[in-house]
Amino acid sequence: EKGTYPHFMLKEIDEQPFVIRKIIQEYQNENDEIKLDPEIRAAMKACDRIYIIAAGTSYHAGLLGKQFIEKLANIPVEVHVASEFSYNMPLLSEKPLFVYISQSGETADSRSVLVQTKKLGHPALTVTNVPGSTLSREADYTMHLHAGPEIAVASTKAYTAQMAVLAILAVDSARAKGIDLDFDPMQELGIAANAMEALTDQKEDLETLARDYLSVTRNCFFIGRGIDYYVGLEGSLKLKEISYIQAEGFAGGELKHGTIALIEEGTPVVALATQANVNYSIRGNVQEVEARGANSMIISMKGLDKEGDAFVIPHVHDLLTPLVSVVPLQLISYYAALHRDCDVDKPRNLAKSVTVE
Ligand code: M6R
Repeated sequence: EKGTYPHFMLKEIDEQPFVIRKIIQEYQNENDEIKLDPEIRAAMKACDRIYIIAAGTSYHAGLLGKQFIEKLANIPVEVHVASEFSYNMPLLSEKPLFVYISQSGETADSRSVLVQTKKLGHPALTVTNVPGSTLSREADYTMHLHAGPEIAVASTKAYTAQMAVLAILAVDSARAKGIDLDFDPMQELGIAANAMEALTDQKEDLETLARDYLSVTRNCFFIGRGIDYYVGLEGSLKLKEISYIQAEGFAGGELKHGTIALIEEGTPVVALATQANVNYSIRGNVQEVEARGANSMIISMKGLDKEGDAFVIPHVHDLLTPLVSVVPLQLISYYAALHRDCDVDKPRNLAKSVTVE
């Protein structure tokens, strides 16, 4: 039920900090150790490469999952769009582990890959919000998102839950391999949850940004580097699916190789700046688009912020910034859709779960 909320999407955005806290609880035992099916731990240890298969928002969570697993656990990861992998399987490593990420657990494109990889005898882990779902039943192992039912077609809380669960999986695999980490993941996730909660209290500012930048535009670009680039892809998907603004996410440095031709006087460009190592270069990209007339909106992280940034998120662990930086993007999309009189929870042409290939 929506309760006092006008839309499920807004309710689900607000639920995100509670979902992250629930995940922390569910994946921790009484000795504050990570609680994980030992078979999943063994499968992660035994594989020589992970293949993440997903669609849409879940694919975007997978791109960040790759960052977590490669950077923390040192296991190579490939991330594939399910519908592409299905008809064009890449060369596989000797001991692959397939990880299917799906809110619904019913996405036909992902299931088609699961059927093929099971036939080949490869182990499969499904990360899903619906443990009894097809992808969960047909895989060897399941990790549950604990996000509660997600009703709005635009996925929000499942995305942040997917990232939290993948971060926990990455940390667990690092520890299982004896890799020392210099942070407490559950504590850092708790800090991220608090930061998310603080942002959901800043809705008025985000509504103003949505109105000023997006109420009449035809298009919008999202740029970022590294982790921020992947969050920009999700921000652009959110915006296009509920507001019908043509929105695209690009790697900051790639713009000048073609896309910058589309920047005109007043084109909105949302830039994410949450990573210290690329803070200077992404701001350089913003100058490039501003010089062509873009109306830029910088969303930065405390500590890396500069005067004139449109919105600043609280400081969190650099790998966990997506959990927080996506929240203003979700809210800006929500308000842009409202300003444009769109059906937020049930956008045209879309279904909550896509059960045809
Ligand atoms: O249920 P799944 O996570 O497998 O669904 C995948 C996509 O269909 C889904 O994320 C879709 O892109 C959403 N509408 C995005 O908000």
